[in-house]
Amino acid sequence: MAVVLSSSSASADGQDTGIEHLERQNQAMKRLVAAVQELSLARSLDAVMAVVRRAARELTGADGATFVLRDGDKCFYADEDAIEPLWKGQRFPMSACISGWAMLNRQSAVIEDIYADPRIPAVAYRPTFVKSLVMVPIRTQAPMGAIGNYWAKKHMATRDEIELLNALANTTAVAMENIQLYAELEQRVQQRTAQLEEANHELEAFSYSVSHDLRGALQPISGLAGLLAIQCEAKLDARAKESLDRIQAETRRMAGLIDDLLRLAQFGRVELKSETVNLSQIAREVAARLRSSGPVRQVDFLFEDNLVTEGDPGLLQVVLENLISNAWKYTSRKEQARIAFGINAERDGSKAYFVRDNGAGFDMAAADKLFVPFQRLHHPADFAGHGVGLATVRRIINRHGGRIWCEAMPEQGATFYFSLPGGSVQRQ
Ligand SMILES: Nc1ncnc2c1ncn2[C@@H]1O[C@H](COP(=O)(O)OP(=O)(O)OP(=O)(O)O)[C@@H](O)[C@H]1O
Ligand SMILES: [Mg+2]
Repeated sequence: MAVVLSSSSASADGQDTGIEHLERQNQAMKRLVAAVQELSLARSLDAVMAVVRRAARELTGADGATFVLRDGDKCFYADEDAIEPLWKGQRFPMSACISGWAMLNRQSAVIEDIYADPRIPAVAYRPTFVKSLVMVPIRTQAPMGAIGNYWAKKHMATRDEIELLNALANTTAVAMENIQLYAELEQRVQQRTAQLEEANHELEAFSYSVSHDLRGALQPISGLAGLLAIQCEAKLDARAKESLDRIQAETRRMAGLIDDLLRLAQFGRVELKSETVNLSQIAREVAARLRSSGPVRQVDFLFEDNLVTEGDPGLLQVVLENLISNAWKYTSRKEQARIAFGINAERDGSKAYFVRDNGAGFDMAAADKLFVPFQRLHHPADFAGHGVGLATVRRIINRHGGRIWCEAMPEQGATFYFSLPGGSVQRQ
């Protein structure tokens, strides 16, 4: 829809009444505001040009509009909207076209008769419909381009029309500067992400090779201690035997730690699969395994059925294995334990899965330590463990693009929440 808002149109008797003039001004301002709003949303040069070429024509009622970009010492006629083709896609030297003149002189060119103006290269205009024009620079300080308006009949652009085009050009300049900024920011974010990814890979490779080497060094220690215990059994006194036992126990413990470290390093390296995963089913299997490991315990499992998501089945199994095993472990001192798995609506409308228990809980002041490898809030004498489970869980959830957090109180139990962008479907 082409809305003609030219202030050159007049009342039937050719006279422009004050009211008509005001009405047109009002319409033009509305159109300008709409263009400003559209420009504020534009995120690419193409989007800016699409807004400007239309708005430029509609604001003045001209027969054509061009969007010219400065390209070194050339003017590039990048886009146009006109009754007949103009120069879209062509480049002219700055010194030999009117858009170049407007940019070099940092001011508008208003020409009623193009063939009477020495600044106009008549050859370029002869094949076109153009008789009159206005060309305004985009940004007067160091112009980046220009906006042209063209008429098929002789027309002297009014002050209002020139002001409207200048206002459009100023807004266009801001929109183009913003696009440059967005592009720079985007590039910086990409560079930073690439650096972080590289640093992450190096760290993973480092911890992988360190844990591998440590494990290799541990084997002969444990082997030699075992051999010594067998070969010298008759010669060793009780204290020496006890020391050898301790060496073996400590090397076993260290091997366990190294295995955990290796596991942690590996989760960052595996390729993520995307499949439909029934979390409820995995949770029930974990619960069944735990029950068979401690049949005398009184534990109620309250699990929601058919919680299904998209993700990596193996890794999501590791998540539930760790969270439910923790709930099982940290409720081991409760006579009647309760462990729940379900889905919760968050305040912002999103959904989060949760694993809740009524066990030992912890002080929330230390909660930020939980997800850091080898950090534990409970003493090994109370609850055994290495402090690697939750760090692994967080890595897996993060790799799925989700988040994990918790709520707890000492002796009141703990709830671990996690979100997965794969969404959740509760089947009937
Ligand atoms: N359900 C829970 N209730 C109370 N404390 C918990 C719970 N889950 C985790 N924690 C606390 O967070 C710490 C870290 O948990 P994480 O699972 O990483 O390690 P862990 O269970 O000690 O050892 P493991 O490496 O064998 O999993 C635990 O040591 C414990 O202090
Ligand atoms: Mg654990």
